[in-house]
Amino acid sequence: MSTAVEKRTARIELQDQTVELPVLVGSENEPGIDVSELRNKTGYITLDEGFGNTGSCMSSITFIDGEKGILRYRGYPIEQLAERSSFLEVAWLLIFGELPTKTQLARFEELVKQNALLHQDMRHHFEGFPASAHPMAVLSSMINACSCYHPELLETENLDENERFLLIVAKLLAKVTTIAAFSYKKSIGEPQRYPDPKMDYFRSFLHCMFSVPYDRYDPEQEVVDALDLFLMLHADHEQNCSTSTARMVGSSGANLFASMAAAVCALWGPLHGGANVACIRMLQKIYKEKLPLATIVEQVKNREFLLMGFGHRVYKNFDPRALILKRAADKLLDKLGIKDPLLDIAKQLEEVAIKDEFFLERKLYPNVDFYSGIILRAIGIPLDMFTVMFSIGRMPGWIANWKEQYDQPRKKIYRPRQIYTGQTQRDFVPVEQRG
Ligand code: ACO
Repeated sequence: MSTAVEKRTARIELQDQTVELPVLVGSENEPGIDVSELRNKTGYITLDEGFGNTGSCMSSITFIDGEKGILRYRGYPIEQLAERSSFLEVAWLLIFGELPTKTQLARFEELVKQNALLHQDMRHHFEGFPASAHPMAVLSSMINACSCYHPELLETENLDENERFLLIVAKLLAKVTTIAAFSYKKSIGEPQRYPDPKMDYFRSFLHCMFSVPYDRYDPEQEVVDALDLFLMLHADHEQNCSTSTARMVGSSGANLFASMAAAVCALWGPLHGGANVACIRMLQKIYKEKLPLATIVEQVKNREFLLMGFGHRVYKNFDPRALILKRAADKLLDKLGIKDPLLDIAKQLEEVAIKDEFFLERKLYPNVDFYSGIILRAIGIPLDMFTVMFSIGRMPGWIANWKEQYDQPRKKIYRPRQIYTGQTQRDFVPVEQRG
């Protein structure tokens, strides 16, 4: 990993003292003040709720320039990868740092295919969940449970020996799709379908999701391609909530599976990975209740609700993934001959919103979740499974970040400080004297 270069210093003037701190500049010239010695030198800490101004690490995985709408994985623009690469190739790129050779890619694809089966005993866990269990809860639990059946995966020493890490990655990427499909089958009361190693990664996954004993599902190539694209565009996104969670949990020395299970939980919330579900629900409501779009925009401005799939902590111009997905949604629906009124509503809503002063001032544009749900609907993925799909997509980014942190020569547990605002010291009052 290349490190940031120390270029100049920043002088901070405090009431009673002045301190010089190093300024680090990354490979894309983004500057940051290194405050790691601030408390030692001054007794002060920095406060940054939501971490909007805080770099938690140095990373060489993904670069985003939110003002310019740039997203690159290991230096490669997302537009080029979307056009010319595949999910597993991108997964390798993110995790191992370079595009794979032809041989490496073929072996990786094969390893993933060969490791999709779950330990047979894990089926009992699925039986134990109620049919109404949320698939994100099942996914997180079962990723953690996986490590019980593969204790060798818990060992975090010497990961780079004998391709151990490669095999762990292949197992994780493979099994996560099987867990997802099994939990879906459980929720609809259908028998689980086993992955088929003769099929490629996503064909086998779609087979596990949609085949029934009397009818084998054979998706059209456009469906497989759209799924691959959707997942690739979700593969990494720098230090977002779930990725930071993966690094945070991993920083304690927790194994990869425990860290991934935690990241799944972090992704679940409606302000993060759950936004694709909330966005479709919002579009459905607009459609069913025939709500005029101008009224919606007014309500959003009156703070009656958030426009789901809009806005982003980092992108303040446009989200390049949203542009790609908008085009992909059009293409897929056209190929499949589907007319989805929600796509029309989404486009019209975008038109109205992006011209409105409220959205312009706050630099709010469609994010990745605005059009992604339309694609998932067209593929036949039920709403409850949307965030699970996002998790499958984000897995390479979580793994890459976990490993980057694991490889740090000087490991440091994540442990932020706080500004305490509670009671100052007071004496304990026995219960009989408390009124
Ligand atoms: N609809 C309406 N107003 C919004 C929206 C929105 N979607 N997003 C932000 N705003 C407004 C806020 O009310 C705030 O206005 P104010 O300054 O007048 O108070 C201003 O824009 C800035 O918003 P913040 O909440 O400070 O922006 P932040 O960077 O903290 O939040 C977030 C980013 C969480 C994505 C936010 O835009 C949001 O909630 N969007 C809707 C949920 C969503 O789509 N999430 C998916 C994000 S992408 C992902 O995780 C994959």
